[in-house]
Formats: sequence, structure tokens, C-alpha cells
Amino acid sequence: MIGKIPKVFIDELLIKTNIIDLINARIPLKKQGQNYHARCPFHNEKTPSFTVNDKKQFYYCFGCNSHGNAIDFLINYERLTFIESIETLAILNRLTIPNNIGYKKNKNEYDIRNQLYCLMQKVTDLYKKNITNTDKNMAYLYLKKRGISKKMINYFSIGFAPKEWNNISNNIVINKTNQQALINAGILILNKKGNLYDRFRGRIIFPIKDNHGRISGFGARNLDNEKPKYINSPETNIFHKSRQLYGLYEITKNDVKPDKLLIVEGYIDVIMLTQFNINYVVGSLGTSITAEHIQLLFRNTNNIIYCYDGDKSGKEAAWRTLKISLPYIHDGRSIKFIFLPQDEDPDTIIRKEGKIAFENRIHQATDLSIFLFHKLLKNINLSSIEGRSHLSAIAVPLIQLVPGETMRIYLKQILGHKLGIPDFNQLERLFSRNKKKIATYSMKPIKQTSMRILISLLLQNPYLAEIIPSVKKLTYLKIKGLSLFLELVQICIKNPKLKTGQILEFYRDTDSVYILYKLAKWDHMIIEKEIKNVFLDLLSGLYNKILEIRQELLIDQERKKGLNNAEKNELWSINKKLAGI
Ligand code: UTP
Ligand code: MN
Repeated sequence: MIGKIPKVFIDELLIKTNIIDLINARIPLKKQGQNYHARCPFHNEKTPSFTVNDKKQFYYCFGCNSHGNAIDFLINYERLTFIESIETLAILNRLTIPNNIGYKKNKNEYDIRNQLYCLMQKVTDLYKKNITNTDKNMAYLYLKKRGISKKMINYFSIGFAPKEWNNISNNIVINKTNQQALINAGILILNKKGNLYDRFRGRIIFPIKDNHGRISGFGARNLDNEKPKYINSPETNIFHKSRQLYGLYEITKNDVKPDKLLIVEGYIDVIMLTQFNINYVVGSLGTSITAEHIQLLFRNTNNIIYCYDGDKSGKEAAWRTLKISLPYIHDGRSIKFIFLPQDEDPDTIIRKEGKIAFENRIHQATDLSIFLFHKLLKNINLSSIEGRSHLSAIAVPLIQLVPGETMRIYLKQILGHKLGIPDFNQLERLFSRNKKKIATYSMKPIKQTSMRILISLLLQNPYLAEIIPSVKKLTYLKIKGLSLFLELVQICIKNPKLKTGQILEFYRDTDSVYILYKLAKWDHMIIEKEIKNVFLDLLSGLYNKILEIRQELLIDQERKKGLNNAEKNELWSINKKLAGI
């Protein structure tokens, strides 16, 4: 499937993308000598061991061994699939992924996604057209009644699916493939009788945008009291509820790294708070917050505030969210909670109280540590030993999930205080007994062979391919790694502009990729100006091997049946060459 996106296009993308800019836009990098550094986004650490190399166009971390080129970075950091990461690079570089014209029957994943995005946009345009701002339009009247402004209708591309059976097929030309795509995307329904009709009819439509502003799904609210109140798009190739946040695109297109993000439940909540100029609100689409949501939130800000109902179910949901958030609290990040009064949601409360009062709630939000201990201490009697040991038993494993050292120490101190153990060393023992072995990556040293050094030098300095005299003769040799080396030489000669990270892309999903990445980041300690000489020396070692083989053959022949004059001359000159005369 991957191969269907033309390789040349992927190469072009990687040549146009500067990995430094790509990563720096997501985590600030500091230049130090030839490399750029940051604290690794893939594991928790105090000193930066995450390195991005401009010359090689790839990144690696000494601490956790994560590594890769621009595509790998997006896959690992933004949790994208390969195709999504290609799409992202294409969008950043304003390039269009070439269509598979001629392979119409054999559509690849990208084609299917692209077709779906186009359809979603067409359907959204129709829904938007349907909500013309007239006092005759039910949906418009409904939103007006709820106090939602025209500006917000446009800002969030809100639309309307009228109560008609075939509004979509009457207005959009749909062929059979598109019809199936719309059925899969939960926009059309095909009933048992074979009739096709609009699923969202009679509903206000809230398009959900992905991080590039493409419509990936819909939420749809009815206008009356019929159940269910909301229906949403099902999971599709482009819509994954567990990693989508309503309104995030609208925020980040104006503010790349907002200071904070407030997470609410409903579409209308996001819209109403935004209308009140609280421009850092996203919606969880009514689902529970997932670990993927939290990672997505922390990629965009350092401060998260969750907004929940003050009732029992709100508190329970908040507790669930707290527990899954713990593994993502690195130092410098904060998590807070606000709990609204009974029977209120953000929409109703901001209309009652106004912006300032609502923002006061945010300023007074409950710290995670307060909420954590408040919850843990419920039903615990600290005056008894049993109570204290029970607290310790439930608190320690939770605190241990926190990767941020400062936060962890702080939580330990609170626990120590509650348990009446002021001595930090004593407290530490509670934790050390419970400590799970944290897997640390041990980088096995690479065994140095001349083939490995050759490959590594070439991979790290692709220009060396130009100075290789001829590789033709080498093909006769049987040495481990030689064929990989020769293949690399071909790639470098054919594509003289490629850098390390781009060359590695040729090997995605192959068996060689593991060793190649190792060799690409291998610090072989050869000083810059000696690289060329070392490379040539090693190469001549290979040529000598060919001579040695020939030499042996001639000597053997001499013993068995003697040599003719030409062969004698050849042996003599080989001996001379190998002796370095
Ligand atoms: P609410 O029931 O709190 O609705 O659901 P709301 O957001 O306040 O909507 P209004 O104000 O009545 O219009 C919160 C969120 O849960 C999801 C939706 O995303 C909704 O915004 N939900 C709710 C559903 O997906 N399906 C439902 O039937 C109800
Ligand atoms: Mn509501």
C-alpha cells in the first residue's frame, strides 16, 4: 500500500522539508555546534539528549534510542500513520500528493482518504448553504434562540441538514464509489429495502476539523426533544474520535501554542465560550478523555484545565481523567480542574455570569494535587495506622506514574505530610519498595567491521559516493554487508542531493532499516577532515581483497600446472601492488 504513493514524491517531500524547522515548530531546539538539542519528547529526562542533525536530516535520542527522519518524527510525535505523516508534510510544503491515475481500480489508502475529505467538504458546503441566515430557517432560528451569533456560525462552519430524505443526493452528484464512502462515513443510510437517505436529516451540523482544517467528521444535534439528542460520525479512515478535539483547529490556526486549553464536553459549550472571547476551549465530543487526547493537548499547550459538572458523575469522570493524565505530567506542565454548579454547563453558566466570572473560575481552578488527595483521603481515617497505610498503598502507585520529577517530589511531600513521615529518606523507602523496574535502553556497542564503517561513513556523508572509483569489480566479493553498501552507493549516485534521513526512507519496512539507523547515528570518532581518507583506505582494502583472491588462485594454479607468461606477469604485478610498492 505504501508503495503506491510514488517514491519520487516522498523523496521530494523529504528534500523540501527541513527537519530542524519541522521539529523546532513543535519543541524548541537549541543549537549546539553542528546539532540541535532538546529534552526528548519520547521519554522523561532532565538533561537534553534528543539531538537533531541538520546535515543528516534526522533525529536521535541517546537516552531512549528513538530516531528517524521527518516522516518518523511525525509518526512518533503526532501519532500519525505513515500516510497521515506524508499528507502533513505535503500540506506544509504546499504540494499535492499525485493521484494514482491509471490505477483507478487499485486505489491506495491515500486515494480513499482524499476522496473522503473531498466528499466531506462538499457535504459541509451543502449543510452550510442550508443554514442561510433567514428567519425562515429552523436551524438558524434555533441557534438564534440559543444566543449563538452569525459570527460563530461562520467561524465553526455550522450547517443544517433539513428534514428531507434526499437533500444530499438531490444536490451533490454522487457516483457508486462515493455513495459507498458516504454510507461508510455515516452520512447516508441504505436501508433493507434498498432506499438511500440522509442520516442527519433535521439536525444542526457541527463539522469537526482535523489539525489541518479538513473536515473529518460531524456532530449533529436535533432541533426537538427526540432522542438521541446528538449523533456523531462513526470511525472512518479519517475520523478517530479518541484523538480528535472539537475546536482545536480553530484555536491553533490563530495561536500556535496557546498558554492554556480548557476542555469541555459539548459542542455548544465550545461555541458559546468562544463567543464570549474565551478563545482556548476545546470539546471532547462527549466522550471520555483518552490518553491520546491528553498527548494531543500537551503537544499544543503546557496547561490543561478540565471542566466537569460538580455532581457525582462529573467528579467520577474527572477522577478517571486524572488517573489517565498522570503519566503525561512532565515538569513544566500543569493540570487543573473546574467543577461547575449543579445543573449548569459552560454554555448556561457563561450566559448567566459573563466572561469575567467564568474566567475567575478558571483562575481558581483546583490543582491536580488537591483533587488527587481530596479524592484519596475520602473515607480514610488518618488517625489510625490502618488508615495511613491504606492511603500509602493507594497513593504510591499513582504518584509513581508521574514522570515529572518536581511534581513527583511535591506529591510525595504532601503524602509524607499526611502520613506523618516528614523525613524524605524514610518516605523514599515506601517508593523504592514499590518501584517498578523502568526499562532503560542500553545501547549495545556496534562491532566495528570495515564494511560497517564504510556503510556508516557513506550514510552519514553521502557525497562520498562521488569519489568511489568503480564498484563493478567489488560485486565479485562475498562479504557480509557488501550488497547493502553497493545498493547505497547506487542510491547516492542516482540522487546526489539526498541526505542521511532521506536515504533511510528507501529502507522503510525493510530488514536493513534497523542496522542502517544504528550506523547512521553511530559516532565513529573519525574527525571531519579525515573522513574522506578513511573511506578511501577502507575501499582500497576491498579492492585488495579482490587482488588477494586472484593471487591465491594464481599461486594455486602455479603449483598445479604452472603459469603462462601473461599469468606470471599478472601475479608479479599483484604481488607488487599488495606489497604497496
Ligand atoms: P450534553 O447532553 O451535555 O449536551 O452532552 P450539550 O452539549 O449541553 O448540548 P445542548 O446544550 O443540550 O445542545 C454533551 C456532549 O455529549 C455528546 C455531544 O458531543 C454533546 O455536545 N452527546 C450528548 C452525544 O454524543 N450524544 C448524545 O445523545 C448526547
Ligand atoms: Mn448544553
